[in-house]
Amino acid sequence: MIKLTPSLLAADLMNLGREIENMRKNGVNQLHFDVMDAHFVPNLSFGPSFCRAIHRQFPDLKMDVHLMMDNPEKYVDTFIQYGAASITVHQEAFLDPRPVLQSIRAAGAQCGLSVKPHTKVEALFPYLNETDIVLIMTVEPGFGGQKFMPEQVEKIRALRQADYTGVIAVDGGVNLENMALLKEAGANWLVMGTAYFRAESPALVAEKVRELA
Ligand code: DX5
Ligand code: ZN
Repeated sequence: MIKLTPSLLAADLMNLGREIENMRKNGVNQLHFDVMDAHFVPNLSFGPSFCRAIHRQFPDLKMDVHLMMDNPEKYVDTFIQYGAASITVHQEAFLDPRPVLQSIRAAGAQCGLSVKPHTKVEALFPYLNETDIVLIMTVEPGFGGQKFMPEQVEKIRALRQADYTGVIAVDGGVNLENMALLKEAGANWLVMGTAYFRAESPALVAEKVRELA
């Protein structure tokens, strides 16, 4: 299953309502919501109340929250209360991510575990039975609009070779050119910031992803 997940970071925030309405018209039902703390990554982005505001306006839209922050466990309950359908934390933020993955699931959301480009995919292996989503970063996290790192695709293959059957999401520089390669490697959710929201025709991007699926 291939699913387009546009990333809010690249949306026109001054016209966000319209951006999301257009997304819905284009058949997209999931939005990637990046949370950055200026410590785990060198940038600041969106907080919980912004997630709640979007969820209140668009309750059918699945909010896919990506926590690029230290101590993400402190914010999990709030994000779930504010409408997160899935929450991904970083392996690098924990000695043992099991408790936070369990608490996300127990609260009724899908849980995800991510690795930065410099972290080996093997770091995820002990937790594959305990996560619904693995998110592979294909850029150094922190900013949109960066160049896709093709060598990271091996991580997707390695996860499938390790018999991981859950969702694999890919985040960073994903676009119409590399999406077929990502599908072939075993990816499911294509997070697209720039390639979707800054496209001449986001409707066409959504259509191309549907064709691929
Ligand atoms: C980067 C974020 C991404 C970002 C991707 O740290 O996690 O979700 O929005 O943006 P693009 O698709 O422009 O690389
Ligand atoms: Zn992200």
